[in-house]
Amino acid sequence: MLGIGAIIGTGIFVLTAAASQKAGPGMMVSFVIAGAVCAVAALCYSELAAMAPVSGSAYTYTYAVMGELLAWCVGWALILEYAVAAAAVSVGWSGYVLGLIEQGLGFDFPDLLSAGPTWAMNGFIPMPDFSAGIVNIPAIVVALLVTGLLMLGTTESARVNAVLVLIKVAALTVFIVITLPVIKTANLSPFAPNGLFGASSGMGIVGAAASIFFAYVGFDAVSTAAEETKNPQRNVPIGLIGSLAICTVFYLLVALGAAGAIGAQPVLGAAGEAVQPGSPAFVAACALPANAEALVCSNEALAHVLRVIGHPQIGNALGTAALLALPSVILMMIYGQTRIFFVMARDGLLPEGLTKMHPKWKTPYIVTAFTGIAVAIGAALFPVGKLADISNSGTLFAFFMVSIAVLILRVKEPNRKRPFRTPLIWLFAPLSAFGCAFLFWNLPHDAKMVLPIWGGFGLLIYFLYGYRKSHLGRGLIEVHETDSDLPPPPVPPIS
Ligand code: ALA
Repeated sequence: MLGIGAIIGTGIFVLTAAASQKAGPGMMVSFVIAGAVCAVAALCYSELAAMAPVSGSAYTYTYAVMGELLAWCVGWALILEYAVAAAAVSVGWSGYVLGLIEQGLGFDFPDLLSAGPTWAMNGFIPMPDFSAGIVNIPAIVVALLVTGLLMLGTTESARVNAVLVLIKVAALTVFIVITLPVIKTANLSPFAPNGLFGASSGMGIVGAAASIFFAYVGFDAVSTAAEETKNPQRNVPIGLIGSLAICTVFYLLVALGAAGAIGAQPVLGAAGEAVQPGSPAFVAACALPANAEALVCSNEALAHVLRVIGHPQIGNALGTAALLALPSVILMMIYGQTRIFFVMARDGLLPEGLTKMHPKWKTPYIVTAFTGIAVAIGAALFPVGKLADISNSGTLFAFFMVSIAVLILRVKEPNRKRPFRTPLIWLFAPLSAFGCAFLFWNLPHDAKMVLPIWGGFGLLIYFLYGYRKSHLGRGLIEVHETDSDLPPPPVPPIS
């Protein structure tokens, strides 16, 4: 339940459209590739999570195994994973809310206030084009509402999570049951219009896999609960692989139903060329009346399919399910982000003021408000596909580092107690590292460039601030009660 609750979200409800634009019906293969990379990464994650059951996720593991500088890089990349993913899910939510307002209530929400600008690269400088959208107001509203709840101390209870999981799974099941009987094989052909790799970066079946990887992110929620699990050696892999397997089956059937029911062919640019989802050429193609019903152009892909095949009320019900369930994914992501900031500040790498607790709410309200405002700005200005790709770039880097860290620790400390041991580690960890690097390489060019630029900016901050203030660097090694099972930190440099 924990795994599925964190996994199912904008990826399947919204990004199915972007995946079709990249791969056509071949996106089904993309779902399998992304799921397989996640499965091996999840096995590596679990070993470290069970050994070091503390907040901070990949940042903490890297700190313990590879030292502060690389840990800072991973923590900095995790900002991309969590905060940017929260922004992506907020934009995904906005698509469904607008669909319900317009299709269900018949109210025409102004287009310019329901989407951010489109972005095109001018050399290395991203340039906004405000002709189709200025700001995404519903996405700002949901990001700030969830932030407010977190500041007041809302965390998700297991029971609420279970109800939301049932709502999501029921919505996807209804979608599958309605669409599978009306599949036309003609809609699945050509199966891979952009081939395996596509003509430009981030396109084709593999490019779609790199983007749709987003649909599986969140499984780390299971690995962080490893220490609280009975018989973790048996139950953690069941939870991880089980939730990934269940989601993969659902995703495949949903993708088959969507593509088979109304077709999933990409729209083309003015010269008949393949175009990236979210690009100005794509927006122009989607504005043509001939593409009004194209799956790839919809911001609420699954509800759209149901409406097109003559079930508008069920489409609205599915939209309502997304409206109810997606905020919990945003909540998990912003919560995860604040925890990582919190641990980094506790280690002295970020200002300690960030960890300040509110006297009444008993929450780290400053860091939560800061994170929520940053998420709202991202959600206001960027399309969901771009945000998901940028989030993937950070996540893939963090998973890559975890795959390496787990191997290093096996060599350095072979006898350390491991409540969960990754099976066939010398096969799965290299496969995971390779898979993450491969998917990263197949992200669109601009999303790929964000990681080194963001990383360079992060290193600047580290050397200007964290390096001097770090508790480790200043010899103030803190032993936190909950950290007692962490692998020993590296020896501090003598200054
Ligand atoms: N896997 C999560 C989603 O698709 C992040 O929304």
